[in-house]
Amino acid sequence: MKFSLIEYHKHMLGDRVRLEAYREAIKLVVKQGDIVVDIGTGTGILAMFAVQAGASKVYAIENSSLATEAAELIRLNEMSEQIQIINERSDRVVLPELADVVISEILGHFGVDENMAYFLNDARKRFLKEDGIMLPSHLKLFIQPVSAPTTVDRYLSPWTNDHFGVDLSAVRPMALNKRLLLEGDETVHPLAPLFMIADQDYLDFVKPTAVYNGEAIIETEGRFDGLVGYFASELTDGFILGSSPGMARTSWRPSFFPCQTSLDLVKDDLVKFTLKTITQGESVFWDWQINVERDGQSLYRSDLTEFELRKEELLLRKNSTFPVLNHRGAEIKLVLELSDGNRSIIGIAQTLQETFPDRYRSIEKARETVTTYLGGNMKT
Ligand SMILES: C[S@@+](CC[C@H](N)C(=O)[O-])C[C@H]1O[C@@H](n2cnc3c(N)ncnc32)[C@H](O)[C@@H]1O
Repeated sequence: MKFSLIEYHKHMLGDRVRLEAYREAIKLVVKQGDIVVDIGTGTGILAMFAVQAGASKVYAIENSSLATEAAELIRLNEMSEQIQIINERSDRVVLPELADVVISEILGHFGVDENMAYFLNDARKRFLKEDGIMLPSHLKLFIQPVSAPTTVDRYLSPWTNDHFGVDLSAVRPMALNKRLLLEGDETVHPLAPLFMIADQDYLDFVKPTAVYNGEAIIETEGRFDGLVGYFASELTDGFILGSSPGMARTSWRPSFFPCQTSLDLVKDDLVKFTLKTITQGESVFWDWQINVERDGQSLYRSDLTEFELRKEELLLRKNSTFPVLNHRGAEIKLVLELSDGNRSIIGIAQTLQETFPDRYRSIEKARETVTTYLGGNMKT
């Protein structure tokens, strides 16, 4: 788990375009003595940029266990006095003061898909001074109908009726219910100009669950395989990052929303689309519908979704369900009950390990869980 987290962050820390843009934008926005909040601090890198820019206090919030390494890196860089790591999801954090700047980098491959809208809306309302600054300040999303033969082939090639003499075609409809990502060297052929489906200002109210509509008139005839989604995020005036054509390449990749079946389009065909984000816990799933009209008549409809309701989630939606604690709930209950001000962290960790021996083979892991659940609420 830790290794995959470290790999994920290594990938992002290797993205120089991203880091240079953030560092320059933070230098411009953060003033001497500012109070800053960093949502999703990861390794703490943006929080440290904020201190370099003059921040006197940074609340660096990170929900994953990487918070431990972030604290170590901050100590190594002699910034522990200015930066306070909070190991919690941002919407569960209460801060003692309001901030001049809220920094975040919780941008997914299609901008909003790390549930950014919800978390930034919450952060702006609860953490930011009235005249404070959000960085990034804006997000734009674009859609374009395309031919994407290489992408379709890469994702769907085994699911045919003759793969090494075996019929695997029954899996094809399932495989299509997935937002895909273009690979670095993969090219798609636009059939119409880019259409902007969202222009969000993070100082304004941002709807947490969003429905994005748009339409495009076909200018170049060709096989229509799906929609490509790009984003552009403005950090501050003049600093824009993203996955859109013509922008400096970053670690974010364009998204591809396939059609149920490909079809040939001609000039002036009208492609109408609706994309919806569906939030489930901390994840965001996409649902996308495509309608094609020719000469005012409906020609084609495609309706795909990557949202899968599991049995437990269906039960949670019913008022008549009698809930029981899952593993995580039982652990949290135990840790909270034991946190009565009379037991040490290691003592609570030992009880946690004794109660759930299969889940806690090492005391370090139990200790890590205790500190995660307790956050900053400790009597010293
Ligand atoms: C894309 S990484 C960016 C990390 C770091 N800020 C950087 O720029 O290298 C996003 C990080 O935010 C964390 N994260 C996402 N949403 C969060 C939230 N609402 N509260 C706390 N952490 C969050 C993730 O665990 C992840 O470590």
